[in-house]
Amino acid sequence: MAVTIIVGAQWGDEGKGKIVDLLSAEVDVVARYQGGPNAGHTVVVEEEEIVLHQVPSGILHPHTQCMIGNGVVIDPVVLMDEIGFLEKKGITVQGRLFISQRAHLIMPYHKLLDATRERHYGSRKIGTTGRGIGPAYVDKYDRCGIRIVDLLDRTTLKEKLLTIIESKNKVLQRIYDSEAMDAEKIANDYVEFDRRIDSYVKDVSVLINRAVEAGKRVLIEGAQGTMLDIDFGTYPYVTSSNPIAGGACSGLGLGPTKINRVLGIAKAYTTRVGMGPFPTEFDEAFSEHIRKLGGEYGATTGRPRRCGWLDMVVLRMAVMVNGLTDLAITKLDVLDSLDEIKICTGYRTGGRELEHYPAELDLQEQVQPIYETHPGWNRSTQNARTFADLPANAQSYLKRIEELAGVPLSIISVGSRRNQTIIL
Ligand code: IMP
Repeated sequence: MAVTIIVGAQWGDEGKGKIVDLLSAEVDVVARYQGGPNAGHTVVVEEEEIVLHQVPSGILHPHTQCMIGNGVVIDPVVLMDEIGFLEKKGITVQGRLFISQRAHLIMPYHKLLDATRERHYGSRKIGTTGRGIGPAYVDKYDRCGIRIVDLLDRTTLKEKLLTIIESKNKVLQRIYDSEAMDAEKIANDYVEFDRRIDSYVKDVSVLINRAVEAGKRVLIEGAQGTMLDIDFGTYPYVTSSNPIAGGACSGLGLGPTKINRVLGIAKAYTTRVGMGPFPTEFDEAFSEHIRKLGGEYGATTGRPRRCGWLDMVVLRMAVMVNGLTDLAITKLDVLDSLDEIKICTGYRTGGRELEHYPAELDLQEQVQPIYETHPGWNRSTQNARTFADLPANAQSYLKRIEELAGVPLSIISVGSRRNQTIIL
């Protein structure tokens, strides 16, 4: 399919990095449309684990062009470090990575405000990654953001920054009782980025539309997941962008009529990091067991992930709001040693059953999952390369997921390496 969007169908960390890496082998362009360095895409190449935060993981395939769309918020410090890291590994970035001039920048005051506000909120904190994502998007919508294009005009950038930092300092000092920032130093540091970033800056919307018109194969990779979406997620315990498929159109300047396939990625169970509702969450002891089996620690912050059973209410929501054409199920092998595996098929509350994920936060916290229990397979699936190689109980588990989701499964992942994959 010419243009494919890959989205997370749960709370992020579904293993999108591996699937994007796998599919990148057959595409010409890989693009990102939202989020920022809060994302951590882990790819294992020849036994080496590579974690990318801002550069699309397609960069690991020498023939692909990578694009960062206008919908992404960019921390230039992290970006330059990442480019440096890749080049040290012998991966060419120059001439292959293109950054939208319309993308907004994450500034030091965004990171400071993110951390300060979380502290201020105390027990009501969101549990953000602390990367300044929320405050950067706030400024974008408040129309006082700094865009990549602003880096290219040193004089105006400095003037703009001095004014913005002056007002941010008032907020930091008067509302959060925090220290002021050195406006002059930040302005001087950031004008330096123009030289370093200049050659990567392009009109990404024009580039991607040209690529599509030329019949190139384009893979659009979402960060985070459907349940962290600012509109459809577990608000306010969400990220500040639209990870859902619709975000790809506004975040890249590509019309919806150009999209051919929307592939959702879901783990064979569920995880989330940060605070907020999680109806199928395990108790702490079992969470710890699965966390160890699945290596469930945040790729960006190293925080232990909360773990729970697969939730089909969540998955059906993902199918609906993203218009998923198919699903990839990852980390099936993590369940290999369990005697019983549960699937949540619905929620119950106050004597009634809910068909859809509720919008009310208190309801999300109260609902009782309705489970069906499946027998485990007690055998390693890591060497399976076809569906038929899987134990019968694993096959039934997957078929049931497909039936409940209402869309076909197209990929099953049974380990972190590229070849530990079943394509259906
Ligand atoms: P923020 O995106 O840093 O503002 O964090 C908001 C929420 O999204 C927090 O619960 C984070 O843990 C979560 N989050 C952000 N990025 C990711 C990700 O890439 N994977 C999983 N959770 C994420």
